[in-house]
Amino acid sequence: MTDFTKIRQQFPILKQTENGQPLVYLDSGASSQKPQLVIDAISQYYEKENANVHRGVYGLSERATVAFEGARETTRQFINAKKSSEIIFTRGTTESINLVASSWGRANLQQGDEIIITEMEHHSNIVPWQMLRDELGIVLSILRINERGEISLDNLQQMLSAKTKILAITHMSNALGTINPVKKMTSLANKVGAIVLVDGAQAVPHMQVDVQDIACDFYAFSAHKMYGSTGMGVLYGKEQLLEAMPPYQGGGDMIYSVTFEKTQYNVLPYKFEAGTPHISGAIALATAIDFIQKIGLENIANYENKLLEYATHALSKIDNLRIIGQAKNKGGVISFVIDGVHSHDMATLMDQDGIALRAGHHCAMPVMQKFQVSSTIRISFGVYNNFEDIDKLVISINEALGMLI
Ligand code: ALA
Repeated sequence: MTDFTKIRQQFPILKQTENGQPLVYLDSGASSQKPQLVIDAISQYYEKENANVHRGVYGLSERATVAFEGARETTRQFINAKKSSEIIFTRGTTESINLVASSWGRANLQQGDEIIITEMEHHSNIVPWQMLRDELGIVLSILRINERGEISLDNLQQMLSAKTKILAITHMSNALGTINPVKKMTSLANKVGAIVLVDGAQAVPHMQVDVQDIACDFYAFSAHKMYGSTGMGVLYGKEQLLEAMPPYQGGGDMIYSVTFEKTQYNVLPYKFEAGTPHISGAIALATAIDFIQKIGLENIANYENKLLEYATHALSKIDNLRIIGQAKNKGGVISFVIDGVHSHDMATLMDQDGIALRAGHHCAMPVMQKFQVSSTIRISFGVYNNFEDIDKLVISINEALGMLI
């Protein structure tokens, strides 16, 4: 049996206090904490291997290149992509989606074409498509969600038509925790000839993702939500699509040859990686993947589901507390509001107890509009959370309520 107490001990930040109280970190949806081995991998790289990649003929640069390209292969295996050239390193999910909107979108969409997104998307899977809509005169359609925060496959089927060119959907909602049936959604979209982009930022640290099984065309995620570093992300894309797409940014490394008359672009994945990449970020990502795989995503999902059940039950007992997002298939995220209490006031008081959680619209304002709230309090789990964290949360909420109401 996996010992999650031992796993928690690998996170040095969790040994410190906040406002004199042991830190209870319940904001992994925003950014996860880092295990010691990821922190060590970053310092090790700068202490022993630091040099630019793909450029030097000296040993140090060659070792950095091997580590960097090794990280790409580790990432390929992690999501079961066919080829490592289908793994593009980016700054994060946001850049990955912008890359597709900008490069694939401009090359393939024209006036009258339709993009479908869901009502539960993060702003990073809304705004790039809106920008494209305004530029190209395409239509942006919204697949609505029900009161539990779920999409309906029947509704999606009804919306899809020959005009639909891309379906851009979150795998797991950051504001509601809903896990979408992305494989079925992809299959429906493919029937009308549409391609599919999946925002996997919240999903990859919590469940096994197999891009060939989902059969999506693009899959985007960030390293910092999965125990890696900030400023590092991944775009998976099917080779055939990536080959046909123009570069996203111009610069070094993405070229094969340059004259003032003409530039020949590099092969995949480098065509989409202009400039010096985030080398230590890629190495840290590979270390984070090893860390996750050593525990096992099935173990992680089972454990986080237990935390979710326990926390849902405990929070439901608090008077006037309403959980926003009650999908049948849900990951380790709970958003809630308490009648008569402003989310930020509650979060500020909880910080005094050493509890870190997020209050606000969670970069998903349309979700707040759907549920007619201006903000929610959100807790989100990582492998280091335990049942005691939830007990402390509930005590702190009850104490805060005594002051606020
Ligand atoms: N997208 C991140 C969150 O959900 C920042 O908090």
